Amino acid sequence: MRVLVVGATGSLGGKIRRNLVAHKNVAVRAMSRKAPVASANPDVEWVQGDMMAPASLDAALQGVEVVVSSANGYMKETLEADFAGNKNLVEAAARARVKRFVFLSIVRCEQASGVPHFHAKKVAEDLLKASKVPYVIVRAPAFLDQSQDYMAEGVKVGRFYAVGDRMTKWSYVLTDDLASCVARAALYPRRHGLTACGNLVQAHDDRVIFESSPDNFPVSDIHSL
Ligand SMILES: NC(=O)c1ccc[n+]([C@@H]2O[C@H](COP(=O)([O-])OP(=O)(O)OC[C@H]3O[C@@H](n4cnc5c(N)ncnc54)[C@H](OP(=O)(O)O)[C@@H]3O)[C@@H](O)[C@H]2O)c1
Repeated sequence: MRVLVVGATGSLGGKIRRNLVAHKNVAVRAMSRKAPVASANPDVEWVQGDMMAPASLDAALQGVEVVVSSANGYMKETLEADFAGNKNLVEAAARARVKRFVFLSIVRCEQASGVPHFHAKKVAEDLLKASKVPYVIVRAPAFLDQSQDYMAEGVKVGRFYAVGDRMTKWSYVLTDDLASCVARAALYPRRHGLTACGNLVQAHDDRVIFESSPDNFPVSDIHSL
């Protein structure tokens, strides 16, 4: 099975890529806007592609059965990748007739239309649902170990800071756990304990959504940061 990882150079995307490489019988193709360089790992085929350039996506998706995307623009560059780029990617996946699209979304994105990157995830989810492409959407909570801000720094010295009042419910994930879940979603969408990805909030045939809840992502490993 050939899997295309979009966002494969990212902090989380790199972990998803490495998880997939560890699986036997999976040919991993990794996409980046940067020109491919000789890979230290011969198990990865690098391909140049830009979510803003549909023709490059058609080329990247040739022979691909499953596409996994954790790519985003809003964290470091532009929100356009999250709107137009995701639209291009869904349309290209439909043209390529991929068997599954695993999309990394954000918990409760439908309830925060005023937050641009949440809204972008909801728009992308809706495009995916309206397409004929089978999908697994993994709606992740906040990352505990990736931020450079007060949260991760606080945890390292034994303090846990959270935003909001005391009644605000938060959930967090460690990115190693999330990357493992997303990789498993690419390969076995309903098996191998995938419910660790979150609660199953929708499942019709091959159209599946997992959403996190505090129970699914206990903050039990913070001592390992
Ligand atoms: N942080 C949180 O608390 C949180 C919570 C829930 C969900 N999430 C989601 O988790 C993901 C974070 O992933 P990450 O840590 O790997 O992100 P990252 O480190 O910011 O990496 C961004 C990736 O997106 C790719 N990318 C950006 N624009 C692109 C374009 N136009 N065409 C193709 N690729 C493009 C980049 O590839 P190149 O630069 O190599 O082209 C890179 O691989 C996001 O989807 C985010 O929404 C985050």
